[in-house]
Amino acid sequence: MAAPILVTGGTGTLGRQVVPLLRAAGGDVRVLSRTPRTSAGGVEYVAGDLLAGTGIEQAVSGVEVVVHLAGGPKGDDEATAALVAAARPAGVRHIVLISVIGADAVPLGYLRAKQGAETVLMESGIGFSIVRAAQFHDLTLKMVRGMTRLPVVPIPGGLRLQPVDSGEVADRIAELALEAPAGRVADLAGPRVHPFRELVDLYLTAHGKHRPKLPVRIPGRAGRAYRDGANLTLAGATVGRRTWEEFLAEDRMARDLAG
Ligand SMILES: NC(=O)c1ccc[n+]([C@@H]2O[C@H](COP(=O)([O-])OP(=O)(O)OC[C@H]3O[C@@H](n4cnc5c(N)ncnc54)[C@H](OP(=O)(O)O)[C@@H]3O)[C@@H](O)[C@H]2O)c1
Repeated sequence: MAAPILVTGGTGTLGRQVVPLLRAAGGDVRVLSRTPRTSAGGVEYVAGDLLAGTGIEQAVSGVEVVVHLAGGPKGDDEATAALVAAARPAGVRHIVLISVIGADAVPLGYLRAKQGAETVLMESGIGFSIVRAAQFHDLTLKMVRGMTRLPVVPIPGGLRLQPVDSGEVADRIAELALEAPAGRVADLAGPRVHPFRELVDLYLTAHGKHRPKLPVRIPGRAGRAYRDGANLTLAGATVGRRTWEEFLAEDRMARDLAG
């Protein structure tokens, strides 16, 4: 029997799209989740928590390839260290890691932890593939929708994003998982760079809404890094196809159909 591929974060926005791609490629898939779930359809669920240090040995047992997508606001470096510590003695030969563009350049705790996760993996002695992605359309939508619920929408001056479709990121992750370790590969960014105001305006237009806006300044070194575009990859990235406008139109249609 072929070894299953372990997907951490297989229940998340990205992971939910990666799991069926790996299944379609013919492999068995194991998913690590903090919530116990019933295994079905070639997907086995193992309950565990990378930060609490539970269930990890069971999750990596008999596995050769790990797709590491689990992530949270804090501790991704620690979680990756726990995964690597269990994966090495289990004989895992390839770990695919999703990271974030700007992990080494924007001084925010979340991104520092992402860079820490990259370092832990690169120094693990295990074969690795690391792809840094831009912000997903899904997360951009959540952020923009939340901000447009305020009476006045704050617009951080100089902030630009190049949101990418999480389905396209899933395609790339599945491809990397099925190939030999590739090291750090080209960043994956969306097809356009948008000033934040434009992302908000396109969202408001798609929903037939109007809101007053207020320019604000992101303080400190993180603000400077964002104004300098440290969260962008303007050259050398793999560029996704699905635009923010297309994503918004399809999301709007899906919401209308759902009533
Ligand atoms: N969202 C973006 O714009 C973006 C951009 C670039 C890179 N990324 C990275 O891509 C990855 C996936 O993002 P996403 O938006 O799909 O995340 P998400 O929807 O928030 O899902 C997070 C996933 O991580 C798992 N998880 C969290 N903490 C865990 C822990 N302590 N132990 C085990 N599993 C844990 C969750 O599993 P359970 O809840 O089932 O336990 C869930 O499946 C993350 O590493 C993120 O940093 C995201």
